[in-house]
Amino acid sequence: MNSNSEASETRPSGGIIFDNGGRVVIVTGGCSGIGKAICENFARSGATVVCADVDTAGGRNLPEGVEFFKCDTSRKEDCDTVVDWTVERFGGLDVLVNNAAVQPKESYRPIHELPAAVWDRVVAVNLSGYTFMAMSALRHMQQQRSGVVVNISSGQGHRTARQVGTYGPVKAANIMQARQWAVEYARDGIRVVSVSPGAIDTPLVRASLAQQGGGEALANRHPVGRIGQPEEVASAVLWISGPGASFVTGTDLEVDGGLGALGSFADPYPMPNAATS
Ligand SMILES: NC(=O)c1ccc[n+]([C@@H]2O[C@H](COP(=O)([O-])OP(=O)(O)OC[C@H]3O[C@@H](n4cnc5c(N)ncnc54)[C@H](O)[C@@H]3O)[C@@H](O)[C@H]2O)c1
Repeated sequence: MNSNSEASETRPSGGIIFDNGGRVVIVTGGCSGIGKAICENFARSGATVVCADVDTAGGRNLPEGVEFFKCDTSRKEDCDTVVDWTVERFGGLDVLVNNAAVQPKESYRPIHELPAAVWDRVVAVNLSGYTFMAMSALRHMQQQRSGVVVNISSGQGHRTARQVGTYGPVKAANIMQARQWAVEYARDGIRVVSVSPGAIDTPLVRASLAQQGGGEALANRHPVGRIGQPEEVASAVLWISGPGASFVTGTDLEVDGGLGALGSFADPYPMPNAATS
């Protein structure tokens, strides 16, 4: 037990109650990991939630109150269809969470070894997919004169590592998409932000643990000494897309257990179970 958890058992830590009653939310990639937690949290707080995902099997296993709509966000026509269907069926669109992304194992290479098809796929889903969804959503939000778009980016959009020459630069572009759209649509009553998680316990991270030095080493690189849980990103997304963040736009929120604050020149934290000499 560390000193933080001891403190949390003896001192009140506060609580959070979100009210999203009546709001209509689309979450892309909501069948797994962070997206699923975002769907669940919005639904629990009263929102009508549409999960736009390619994973039909996962769509049969969604939290209560979340509607599945099959959508490949790399296809513009799919994005138009899910947005139009949502607005027609539920009467508006209040929040779009651009979350669907891929990080294929084959993308962990220096770019001179990267198959062009892997680059094309990552760009199609992680970059064009965000733009296609926003193109459709912003049209409706502009007519409503309200709305929030949240782009899920990554700590790797801010600073990089070896072998993420595809994923990292595209995640950086997700932050600039948010800034660009925020400036463009601010006078229409629309806010646009990005959220950059550190390592979060999801299938995407579990699939690349070997490339990241293993679970213990990855946890130890975060100053808090652990990786995050999808719930912890979801609660940041609910706050930033709600009225408590009404003056927050065109900016990025890092939800990363302090990872981004630790300089690469800093002494690494000792591994918890390392033998001392
Ligand atoms: N897990 C992490 O540590 C971490 C860290 C930083 C940023 N992120 C970002 O968080 C987001 C979610 O990551 P995750 O770890 O939950 O991933 P995940 O792999 O667990 O889930 C991704 C979801 O996206 C869906 N998807 C993939 N391609 C799609 C497409 N073309 N159209 C629609 N849906 C599609 C998948 O079916 C899946 O349900 C991503 O944007 C990722 O880059 C994750």
